[in-house]
Amino acid sequence: MKVLVTGGAGFIGSNLIRLLLAEAPDLEITNLDELTYAGNLENLADVAGSPRYRFVHADVADAAAVARVFEAGFDGVLHLAAETHVDRSLEDAAPFLRTNVLGTQVMIEAARRHGVARFVHISTDEVYGSAPPDASFDETAAICPSSPYAASKASADLLVLSYVHTFRVPAIILRCTNNYGPYQFPEKMIPLMIANALEDRPLPVYGDGLQARDWIHVEDYCRAILAALRAGRPGQVYNVSAGRPRTNLEVIRTLLAQLGKPESLIRFVEDRPGHDRRYALDSAKFREELGWQPRRSFEEGLAATVEWNRSNAAWLERCRSGAYRSFYERHYTNRGETLAHWRTS
Ligand code: NAD
Ligand code: DAU
Repeated sequence: MKVLVTGGAGFIGSNLIRLLLAEAPDLEITNLDELTYAGNLENLADVAGSPRYRFVHADVADAAAVARVFEAGFDGVLHLAAETHVDRSLEDAAPFLRTNVLGTQVMIEAARRHGVARFVHISTDEVYGSAPPDASFDETAAICPSSPYAASKASADLLVLSYVHTFRVPAIILRCTNNYGPYQFPEKMIPLMIANALEDRPLPVYGDGLQARDWIHVEDYCRAILAALRAGRPGQVYNVSAGRPRTNLEVIRTLLAQLGKPESLIRFVEDRPGHDRRYALDSAKFREELGWQPRRSFEEGLAATVEWNRSNAAWLERCRSGAYRSFYERHYTNRGETLAHWRTS
């Protein structure tokens, strides 16, 4: 089965490709990624030499480039590529509209033209907006996004559903809660807090820190994506979650305890404008239909993530200094070229 993964050089995408290469030997993977600031080929350095993997440097919103990539023929598409950081969408929403909305339209149109058998669209719990206390949203909840990021993802979902309805494109939408784990770019809360704490720098907590997120280990989510590719019902929307929201302060205190660092590092700073108070999803539909459930407890997954960041200090430092950008510039120059045997050396 030939599978096109978009955004494979990012956090979830690189973990997904590693999992697919290790656990799905029938899959051949093409990774299409524009290598924005969030794309880092170092994330895949250990698997890039696999004969079942190739990388294509392209923009999902570039219809001509995407059409050329699709000439290879794919049975499945896992569409992850996106602008993903809420704070950045508050500074400049334009790249979010281009990549998340136009890019999704380009991708699903290409999938339609080529008769792709499965198109898994990676959405987010943020499309529902903030959940009331003690309630969780199922797939029938109204779409009510708060940030430009969330609005761009919600728009993409609606486009995908329109292609399902009008053209019978066999698309599946996954809406997942916050992921954490190895290779997460240190602008996101968990790796940012770990990186700062490791250097005894202040941990910037937005507002009162009582906003809640339902964290799921990235490996558990990648298994969910694989399950959706194999057995998801076309046309369906599925929520994916661990099912236990925690406040940011609770997470940060756990992190500090695991790192052996003092709570005095916590600094309350100005809140994020429009900050969603609580995300909580009911994922019963996905669990029952696909037989999926998360394997890692939060405490164990978080301890492993702390340890990963500690023992990959060079990776973290190269992300923070920007040095990782020179990596692909040195090794890779021809945009649009397919690199079948791209290596780090
Ligand atoms: P990320 O920011 O770590 O990586 C995004 C990747 O997409 C990068 O490799 C980047 O280079 C690539 N990309 C960006 N614009 C592109 C373009 N125009 N063309 C091709 N590639 C482009 O993101 P992530 O956290 O791994 O998230 C992946 C997907 O999962 C996104 O769709 C996101 O909305 C969704 N999601 C993420 C989370 C989370 O907690 N991280 C939770 C739910 C859903
Ligand atoms: O819920 C899924 C979403 O999770 C994904 O769709 C997004 O792509 C992903 O970025 C993430 O969005 P969040 O805004 O929830 O994640 P972030 O890591 O930016 O923030 C998590 C919480 O921590 C949030 O309540 C804001 C808070 N925070 C974040 C940062 C970066 C802080 O208090 N301080 C910080 O410095």
